[in-house]
Amino acid sequence: MHQFSLEYVRCVNCYGTLETEILGQSDEIEEGFLVCNNCGNKYPIISKIPILYSNLTSYLSNRAQLGGYLVTRAKNVKIKSFVKNSLKKIKNSNLDVTPVEKRWVVTYKNSIKSKFYSHIKNSLNKFTKSGLVLEHGCSIGYVTKYLATKHDIVFGIDQSFFAIMEAKQNNFKNLDFFVANSLNHPFGETKFGLVAGLNLLELVEPLDLLDVLSKQANDMILISDPYDFERGINSVKQTVDSKSLRLELEKRGFIINQNTKKPKFLPWKLNINSRLHLHYKVDLIVAQNNKRS
Ligand SMILES: C[S@@+](CC[C@H](N)C(=O)[O-])C[C@H]1O[C@@H](n2cnc3c(N)ncnc32)[C@H](O)[C@@H]1O
Ligand SMILES: [Zn+2]
Repeated sequence: MHQFSLEYVRCVNCYGTLETEILGQSDEIEEGFLVCNNCGNKYPIISKIPILYSNLTSYLSNRAQLGGYLVTRAKNVKIKSFVKNSLKKIKNSNLDVTPVEKRWVVTYKNSIKSKFYSHIKNSLNKFTKSGLVLEHGCSIGYVTKYLATKHDIVFGIDQSFFAIMEAKQNNFKNLDFFVANSLNHPFGETKFGLVAGLNLLELVEPLDLLDVLSKQANDMILISDPYDFERGINSVKQTVDSKSLRLELEKRGFIINQNTKKPKFLPWKLNINSRLHLHYKVDLIVAQNNKRS
């Protein structure tokens, strides 16, 4: 975690400011805790990555393998025992999503050449420079890193520790990543010039996510999705389509950019393995906060 990030992160329990207990440092904070000045909640930083979930036990309850990995990965005994204690408190160990989260990192690394990402970069080239930018569900941070070449300070958040570990492989001094839940994000009331959320609506309840994005963006929102909602018991409750997504953004005070008024069908190819490729056609919307335009 970069030192500058401390100014922007807040406790996800009570929005209190956080202070650091540093247990390992290089050019960044390698290991330690973020401690809430208000409620005292502690968030571990392991391998430069803050895990900003209010309760590590519940975060690890369906990621027990990740818990074991974090114990071995951590160097300081205080962090090791914090993770071990959180693991001990897991009551019902649900299905472990660790292998799936690891596998998606490989898939995203193998898919960065998809035309979808060049379309996104082209769109991003048209945005004016922002002081502060946030990407939700950034996965391995491919788009986030591009954003960091264009804007002053850029953050990416994702619930997958392994995706954020991959994202952290960079030398940008103005870019940081956190493990966090978009619907319980660690930025308090901070406003961003640009907020992006690409291909998340199947995984994060769409209308709740739109509430978050529209509160955070004081200027632009970039959102894309293939509307692939058939996920059985893992499906979100309320789906959207190209029309209702635009309407919901308008309801929240955003104006849809002229170029994205009509649904797009951008090709997004995900290379799952050498015999399985997913070919999506993705919609893309650029919207501007009405108060700004
Ligand atoms: C389909 S992938 C899209 C990745 C990237 N935005 C892209 O388009 O290349 C969805 C990502 O959202 C993350 N995610 C799912 N639910 C989340 C949540 N509640 N909060 C933060 N990230 C979440 C997943 O871990 C995954 O990396
Ligand atoms: Zn707090």
